[in-house]
Amino acid sequence: MRSSVEKVFGRVQHALGFGRTSTPPNDAGAVQTVQIELYGRAGDPVHQTRDNTPVVFHFGFAACLPVGTDVVVTTFSGDSSNGAIVASNHAKSRPTNLTPGQAVFYDQKGTRMLLSNDDNASVTAAGTLTLAVPTVLIDGQLLVTGNVTAGSGGASVELLDHTHARSGGTGSGGPPNPGS
Ligand SMILES: [Fe+2]
Repeated sequence: MRSSVEKVFGRVQHALGFGRTSTPPNDAGAVQTVQIELYGRAGDPVHQTRDNTPVVFHFGFAACLPVGTDVVVTTFSGDSSNGAIVASNHAKSRPTNLTPGQAVFYDQKGTRMLLSNDDNASVTAAGTLTLAVPTVLIDGQLLVTGNVTAGSGGASVELLDHTHARSGGTGSGGPPNPGS
């Protein structure tokens, strides 16, 4: 018969599990859930498949785990059928070679928000950065390498391609020449 100490030790040993997600999560309910392949001890093959494992995030942060994400699973009272994913790592999309002090917010396709620990920050995306807010305040210069359009989607005016009415004459003139 196992002693109480042995029982407690056994439960502590099984307090954490390691696995990998095997399906896209269900992100519709009160908590995200996902199917995982839960591994046994080091070197063991797949121990079991577990459906509907909750994924617990910190408040203010949400993500949808890609299939194949490595996960750390807590188990309650040593019961491997009852637990939650508390940490995750997707090896293929994880930004690498960061330097100490840097932080990155990223997705699977490579869009990144980098806090580079040198007084700079950057957003890198192949598509569009949308700011869905009533007002944008920039406490500094705005430098734009491309065109600037006011009234986009309606009666718009482009900074590099618009005309001015001639004063004291007829017709219209072009926009100011850059650098003049
Ligand atoms: Fe103008």
